[in-house]
Amino acid sequence: MNMSNFLKTIFLALVIVAAFFVPVAAVVPVDVITLPASDKSGGMPLMRALNERKSLRAFTDEAISQQDLSNLLWAAFGINRADGRRTAPTARNSQQVRIYAAMANGVWLYDAAKHALYKVLERDVTQSFHAPLTLVYAVADDKYGPMHAGAVFQNVGLYCASAGLGNVVKAQGVNVLTNDELKLPADYAVVIVQSVGRPR
Ligand SMILES: Cc1cc2nc3c(=O)[nH]c(=O)nc-3n(C[C@H](O)[C@H](O)[C@H](O)COP(=O)(O)O)c2cc1C
Repeated sequence: MNMSNFLKTIFLALVIVAAFFVPVAAVVPVDVITLPASDKSGGMPLMRALNERKSLRAFTDEAISQQDLSNLLWAAFGINRADGRRTAPTARNSQQVRIYAAMANGVWLYDAAKHALYKVLERDVTQSFHAPLTLVYAVADDKYGPMHAGAVFQNVGLYCASAGLGNVVKAQGVNVLTNDELKLPADYAVVIVQSVGRPR
């Protein structure tokens, strides 16, 4: 094969490969959100945030910004020490709390180590929760599980108070998503949800 035919062959091979991959890439959904760095220096003084903390049940449709989402998830159960320990305590540092974020673009699992969200479900369930963001808390099914969820949702409640966001924790709503949809380990269960949004 002379040089010209060789180059033609290479070009043709590249066109065939591109024709195969480009349309596939175009339809592959985004399934990872790398969150921006959380702002760990801002917010209102703790005593004022405690004074502002309350349940609120009516939200606008406005999506929560990625910065608020980042701050909120870090406040919830992010890593705050070099050894990987978290903003909320867990018995024997088991860290057995899974936080799912249900938003219009699907349901996402928070990975604290990567400070990222991984899509587990394509479905928009925001109408079922009447909020643009609902955190779904799944914990290991033992006597400490609900305590762990409580520590985390209080962190979120205080962040919301500080950031001017509304929130409510609800025992109702724990069945909106099934264990299969959340790809939960066998010994985990959803114990509470927490809706967040701009006050209406
Ligand atoms: C474990 C738990 C479960 C709750 N479940 C619901 C619920 O299913 N629906 C709801 O509207 N509020 C629910 N709430 C919110 C409470 O009604 C609310 O915290 C209480 O009325 C006190 O109001 P405050 O949070 O503004 O102080 C729940 C709160 C907790 C701690």
